[in-house]
Amino acid sequence: MEGDRMGHDYTGKAALVTGAASGLGQATALALVRAGCGVLAVDVAAEGLAATAAAAQAGPGSIQTLTADLSDLERCAAVVEKAVGAFGRLDLLCNIAGIARMDYIAAVTPEQWRRIIDINLAAPFFLSQAALPHLIETKGGIVNVASSAGIQGQAYMSPYSASKAGLIGLTKAMAMELIHAPVRINAVAPAGMKTPMAAPGHLVPPEGFSVDLLMRYAGIREQADPEAVADFILYVGSGRGAFFHGACLSMDQGQTAG
Ligand SMILES: NC(=O)c1ccc[n+]([C@@H]2O[C@H](COP(=O)([O-])OP(=O)(O)OC[C@H]3O[C@@H](n4cnc5c(N)ncnc54)[C@H](O)[C@@H]3O)[C@@H](O)[C@H]2O)c1
Repeated sequence: MEGDRMGHDYTGKAALVTGAASGLGQATALALVRAGCGVLAVDVAAEGLAATAAAAQAGPGSIQTLTADLSDLERCAAVVEKAVGAFGRLDLLCNIAGIARMDYIAAVTPEQWRRIIDINLAAPFFLSQAALPHLIETKGGIVNVASSAGIQGQAYMSPYSASKAGLIGLTKAMAMELIHAPVRINAVAPAGMKTPMAAPGHLVPPEGFSVDLLMRYAGIREQADPEAVADFILYVGSGRGAFFHGACLSMDQGQTAG
């Protein structure tokens, strides 16, 4: 079969991947390039983006990078136009950029709330809004990266859980409004992944937190490799995932099963 080692073939197609400087976004951008895709890799972190671009040089697809802070919602349309300008088309939008922090309910400030909601939920909406005409033209799709935290309530994560539950609702509402259009819109919901976001010292629980409560979200099985989740994103985003539409697909090692 043509394409990368997992059998994906994105030859001649173009994707926009956010959060591409690190973790799952980086793994997805690299997997797409290995599958022959042209990728616009977007992130606020220029150094990480350069590392992604360097790792993508082996092709067979190609990569361009754009440093952008997606909390600037006015910029989302221009980010999409940059992808269309670079490759002349757009087949896949992967909304992967995200931030997380842990706090007691009482400690969350309006500024923290807005930042999490803007990056995790509002930017995917406005990127999708701009991308949809192009995606309908190519019979392409959107993959939103949600989280187990959007399916189950997670203590100390109110804004994050709300943003990811919102992203799942957004996925379904857009899928229904466009049920007659040739486009597929889905969400993938991982639990813990081996990425910088989940690395020790990054997501710090608030002082005096309940260990019992936190252990509920630690997961019983080991954390997923971002490459495995990226592989699933490529499957869902391609024609091989043609019958997924409006789905929230848990890939969480049983985290939300019970
Ligand atoms: N790591 C986990 O355990 C886990 C679990 C479930 C869901 N997720 C979700 O997976 C996605 C990828 O996370 P990851 O684990 O790879 O984390 P990560 O921190 O390695 O990567 C997130 C990327 O998003 C980028 N980003 C943050 N704010 C941005 C902004 N304003 N504009 C543009 N880019 C911005 C960061 O620079 C970073 O490169 C996120 O949406 C996250 O919520 C992660």
